[in-house]
Amino acid sequence: MIAAIVSDWAEVFLRWLHVIAAVFWVGLALGFLRLNLTLKSTKADLWRAADDGFFRVARDMNIPPDAEPQIGWFRWEAYVVWLSGFALMIAIYFAKADLYLIDPDVLPLVPWQAICLAVLMLAVGWLVYDVLARRAWSETARRIVIAVLLFALAFALTRMFSGRGAFLVFGAVIGTIMAANVAHYLVPNQRRMLEAIRSGVARDEARLATSRQRALHNNYLALPVFFLMLANHYPLAFASRFNWIIASLALVAGAAVRHFYVARHRGSGDLWWTWLVAAAAGAAMVGLSVFGVEHPQSRAAAPTSAMDAIAAVVAPRIGDVADIVAERCVMCHARAPAWPGLVAAPKGVMLETHGQIVAHARDIAAQAVWTRAMPPPGANVPIGDDERRVLALWLAAGAPSR
Ligand code: HEC
Repeated sequence: MIAAIVSDWAEVFLRWLHVIAAVFWVGLALGFLRLNLTLKSTKADLWRAADDGFFRVARDMNIPPDAEPQIGWFRWEAYVVWLSGFALMIAIYFAKADLYLIDPDVLPLVPWQAICLAVLMLAVGWLVYDVLARRAWSETARRIVIAVLLFALAFALTRMFSGRGAFLVFGAVIGTIMAANVAHYLVPNQRRMLEAIRSGVARDEARLATSRQRALHNNYLALPVFFLMLANHYPLAFASRFNWIIASLALVAGAAVRHFYVARHRGSGDLWWTWLVAAAAGAAMVGLSVFGVEHPQSRAAAPTSAMDAIAAVVAPRIGDVADIVAERCVMCHARAPAWPGLVAAPKGVMLETHGQIVAHARDIAAQAVWTRAMPPPGANVPIGDDERRVLALWLAAGAPSR
């Protein structure tokens, strides 16, 4: 009991750290990118007001010998994000792989196989991305091929893991690419640039081009990662039939928005069409989730008796719903869950009383009727279509409390 409570709190603090570090990293990275692009395009110093004074921001390649420029302004933030994210992945998705990672209908994996596969995908994602990013193609061609790689990864991951697991691993793959860009290119190249200037050697233009490229890639990938990490609460995104397309569209929408700002800060104008692309991608995500929604009520077996036929059109009563919920949900969603390893009701959702069930009607719809996010597929709780159908008819009748 105590051990479980401590581990729950450890998870809270780890998540807190993860989010704070991510805010710092992405904030700094996008802020510096903005400064860099603006300074290069205006070719003049920038004046910025602070709370109690003014800053003059300038680009300067002539570093005074006694100055000690800081290398990798957001490098520790990046590493903390990656490490805390990986620790969270272990604590939640690996430790409770049956609840979070595995869907036996997608691929019947045992936990250690799912864990190895997830770790393997992190490595594969980075290695393939890095090879493609280094090809001697035009940058546009590289970006298109990398986008296709990421779409393919989204597809592959939804064919390995539960929707929830696939989204998380996809986000982690992209986060790994971003952190590896910092550790492997941005920081070492800054060091080399400083050494070159100090020793009077010519700048290595190819390296600088690589750094520029990787900083821009990270900028395009940042917003999609946030979507993938937050989408875990939205089964219409991760558990819908077209979840891999939805994840890919999030990539398009996030990159389009960043493209607008990159162009603006470069001084190449305001590309308003990028917002149309983002809005269209968002609309397509909504449309796909509506189109992919489950209709358990239409999957009923033909009634075999007059009584069945009548039962099928009469709205189920709360008692019928509570019976199903008691059998298929309450082992986890209770004040004291019976499911091994759970100390408290997941996400605070308790479904033990009629009142609780009615209060959560919309969540039940999203998790167990429109999608099959709940019960967690890997938990192998044998809920039948006929039971989902009762829930659907009850919801369609306005979730009556009697
Ligand atoms: C084997 C355990 C288990 C069973 C059975 C189960 N759930 Fe869950 N449920 C979970 C876990 C774990 C989470 C937390 C998911 C997360 O961390 O995002 C959850 C989360 C939820 C949430 C909140 C989601 C959110 O992101 O806020 C709802 C609503 C829910 N379940 C409904 C149901 C319903 C309805 C059933 C029965 C049809 C059910 N669950 C059966 C384990 C279970």
